[in-house]
Amino acid sequence: MRLTNKVAIVTGAGRGMGRAFALRLAAEGARVGVLDLRQEDAAATVALLPNPAQHLALACNVADSAAINAAFAQVHAALGGLHILVNNAGTGTGPNDGSAEMYGAMAQRNAELAAGGPATTFVDQTLHMQDEGWRAVMSVNLDGAFWGCRAAIRLMAQDGHGGSLINISSTAAQSGEGPVHYVTSKAALIGLTRGLAREVAARGIRVNAVVPGPTDTPLMRSIPDEWIASLEKAIPLGRLGRPDEVASAVAYLASDESSYITGSALTVNGGSYFL
Ligand SMILES: NC(=O)c1ccc[n+]([C@@H]2O[C@H](COP(=O)([O-])OP(=O)(O)OC[C@H]3O[C@@H](n4cnc5c(N)ncnc54)[C@H](O)[C@@H]3O)[C@@H](O)[C@H]2O)c1
Repeated sequence: MRLTNKVAIVTGAGRGMGRAFALRLAAEGARVGVLDLRQEDAAATVALLPNPAQHLALACNVADSAAINAAFAQVHAALGGLHILVNNAGTGTGPNDGSAEMYGAMAQRNAELAAGGPATTFVDQTLHMQDEGWRAVMSVNLDGAFWGCRAAIRLMAQDGHGGSLINISSTAAQSGEGPVHYVTSKAALIGLTRGLAREVAARGIRVNAVVPGPTDTPLMRSIPDEWIASLEKAIPLGRLGRPDEVASAVAYLASDESSYITGSALTVNGGSYFL
């Protein structure tokens, strides 16, 4: 019970890793503000937590800074403070981001290779990406994390105590594998983590990133099966990670056990990439 009397917010906690983080933080004693796009998804997570009445489920689109400010203020008032933030909400795709063209070209290239080659089809995404596709991913993964850090820091400064902010990046930030908007946003989160860590250290606020490798969640299951199989083959531990394994890293960084750690990027990736 490392988080007794702490209040945490987890964004994108209606399913996947976010749900696992909310479960772990609550199991360690925290009261949790569970945020997701849809109220019913957030509520479904809260229903799984110990003492559901101690937690709060809210609909909140992290791309909307006003919605973040309002939701964080509501959690702060209802649960009695804010000490921990996990910026987990994320997406790998958006409308008109060239992913349909990219998957089509990939299938064609695989067919050329299966037929004995040569493969002459280029697998492009950027050629087809419209502005709105780029913005859709950056506004959730990067802007959303910044709005969250800012809102949390404002509340912690007002209350005069420190805290722990945790940004969920991705191995894609290190390897470059993945859609270019996603890779860029996840690499930028490491810069955000480092810059903020220095800025707010004097306030006792620590800022760290967790960098998961391929992890078995609904997001992972939305990519083609052959990608998952090739990802698994490249992981030294030989399998996808589990959300609860990433949650262990989040709970550690949220707790005072990591009191001298700030600005770090903790990889949880089965050995698939070494920073
Ligand atoms: N699954 C993986 O292999 C993997 C690997 C590395 C990093 N990540 C990152 O971990 C995080 C969680 O991934 P996951 O696999 O659990 O994803 P997921 O798609 O299963 O769950 C993401 C959750 O975020 C919510 N969400 C999306 N956009 C939102 C928005 N604008 N506002 C609020 N909530 C929003 C979704 O509704 C969903 O509940 C993401 O940031 C993802 O990029 C995932």
